[in-house]
Amino acid sequence: MSGTWDELIQEIKSRLDIVEVVSEQVVLKKRGNTYWGLCPFHKDKNPSFAVTPHLGIYKCFSCGEAGDAIKFIMKTKNQEFKEVIVDLAEKFGLEIPKSHKADGTSSREVKEQMMKATELAAVFYNDLLLRDKTENAKSALDYLTKRGIGNDIIKKFHLGVAPKEYTVLYDELRKDFSNDILEKCGLILKSEKGGYIDRFRNRVIIPIQNENGDFVAFGARALESGQNPKYLNSSDSLIYNKSKLLYGLYTAKDSIKEEDAVILMEGYFDVISSQAHGIGNCVASCGTALTHDHVRLLSRYTKSRRIYLSFDTDSAGQKATSRGASIIKEVFEGLGDIKQFDESYLPTSDSQNDRFSCEIRVIAPPEGKDPDEFVRSVGADAYKMYVKNAPLYIDFRLNSILKQKDDYKTPQQKAQFVSTLIPVLAEIKNNIIRAEYTDMVAQALKIDSSAIKSELDGFLKSNLPKTDRIIKNVTKSNSVSQKAQKILLSVFLVPDNYFTFQELSEMMSDVTFDDEILIIVKSTIDKLICTVNNVKELIGHLYTEFIENPQAQAVLPELIQHAQAYNGLSEEEFLNVIKETINKINQCRHVEEVEHIRKIYKGINDDDPQALKIQIQLRDKIRNKVKQSEMN
Ligand code: UTP
Ligand code: MN
Repeated sequence: MSGTWDELIQEIKSRLDIVEVVSEQVVLKKRGNTYWGLCPFHKDKNPSFAVTPHLGIYKCFSCGEAGDAIKFIMKTKNQEFKEVIVDLAEKFGLEIPKSHKADGTSSREVKEQMMKATELAAVFYNDLLLRDKTENAKSALDYLTKRGIGNDIIKKFHLGVAPKEYTVLYDELRKDFSNDILEKCGLILKSEKGGYIDRFRNRVIIPIQNENGDFVAFGARALESGQNPKYLNSSDSLIYNKSKLLYGLYTAKDSIKEEDAVILMEGYFDVISSQAHGIGNCVASCGTALTHDHVRLLSRYTKSRRIYLSFDTDSAGQKATSRGASIIKEVFEGLGDIKQFDESYLPTSDSQNDRFSCEIRVIAPPEGKDPDEFVRSVGADAYKMYVKNAPLYIDFRLNSILKQKDDYKTPQQKAQFVSTLIPVLAEIKNNIIRAEYTDMVAQALKIDSSAIKSELDGFLKSNLPKTDRIIKNVTKSNSVSQKAQKILLSVFLVPDNYFTFQELSEMMSDVTFDDEILIIVKSTIDKLICTVNNVKELIGHLYTEFIENPQAQAVLPELIQHAQAYNGLSEEEFLNVIKETINKINQCRHVEEVEHIRKIYKGINDDDPQALKIQIQLRDKIRNKVKQSEMN
């Protein structure tokens, strides 16, 4: 039975887990009841993005972006509300009411058709390779056989061949799909004469599947030596985003989970050969450099985020290795726990903690081959040994620099050489681990360790990380009066309140706030309570309002904490607390004023004409206070 559209939305909302949804795009780390990560909506250096599961919301304390799971999907996938709901309904197997069924032109339907066309193209090319008896198909089969790829592998990876002729695929697919769809898929190109021709010709076809197994794109390797480029790749499209997809992930998923580790490789055939030879947990980017999104994608499959880099050992590969390591480090920056760099490197028995660590290791067999050649010529077992013994990235990096140490002999040369090692050592945050590595380097170079250490200290001092997060606790002169003022303001943040915002505001209309920051907080609350509907919204808006005012923002957690203390009070008790607090503020104010006048009085000569006036003022003040306290 199908319900209404609104019921569908409610059902979907109840099934969504905000942590799960956000984790698809952001690496999260749990602290208390909140999960923290780097904000996907602005360039975040420290984790300011908070996900609160019991409220079902996310919020960036730096840029202010906030919302629920559906808004998060809309923003990150750039989708309309309806589109998100329909996607999710499908995912959860829920029926979409007739009124909202697609009409054939929605971008969702276009995407579906594109995937269908891409899949049929893959099947078509695969058929040609396996069943076609033409010269073309035979030479492709020959080529693959020479690369150690037999029918099993061809079937598993749906490999195919695109013939030399111009419109073979187009003639097949035009029966079922519009030119527009085929063009959007990047399968055909407009020819100069005005018709269409196939984009891939005379190439081995490597279909690319997304993590759900949908066919979304192709890599196509040249069959002849002079043919350029060596690999022709599909461009990005509605269904294919290179920077967010990894080749082989669909078939590697289970193995990555099982091994709790993933091996990043460079090429399609590295992955194909390795997976075919029993190294299941490997993936590669598709003709692009590794991106932050790739790493985030992987972190969802490996609990312990153990990532091996297995790139070519040539200088381009070395560069890719250090670039890859930087990207990985950036993704996990601020979340701590990058093994070998952070304090938490020291192994913990706390598996909950381990879940959020990350480990970068490097596979670099001295044979200097890419993984494809290595597993075929040396063997998968040998490769697995290299995986097992893969050094941490830090060791790999230091050792590859140290290999050149013999070229530096004079004291001047040695000093120069050490300066290339210093920045690497400086990346290690744990003092003990850094000291250990410093000793190791000193021994290898036969240099006094304390000399390296003092160079390193100098480097660290001049490169101190800028603490751009100023949110320090407001610990300055937290006078009795200030504390009372905060307690009073916190009544606005009590969730199940007996009074409306307006009533609360009226109760404290005579109170004078005298702390500069608290005055700002109070006036902002007064402004916001005219528009917000509840405490949750008020808190959210306050954080946004104070983005540019970290001191004011820092007061908020304190207020929220005070507000919690009101829980469980009766209405009368609640009202009493408010009254007492207001009294306290007024008393404090009075004492301050009296003190102030006393001070002036002390500094004045008795025969000064001002003296009498001030004395009277002081007397009145003190009397006033007595009267006030009698009244209360
Ligand atoms: P390599 O040039 O290292 O090739 O490219 P390979 O993987 O060893 O290829 P074979 O073994 O000669 O067939 C590595 C990866 O870079 C991308 C492809 O994804 C390739 O797998 N690439 C390379 C391109 O996208 N276009 C190119 O022209 C070359
Ligand atoms: Mn290769």
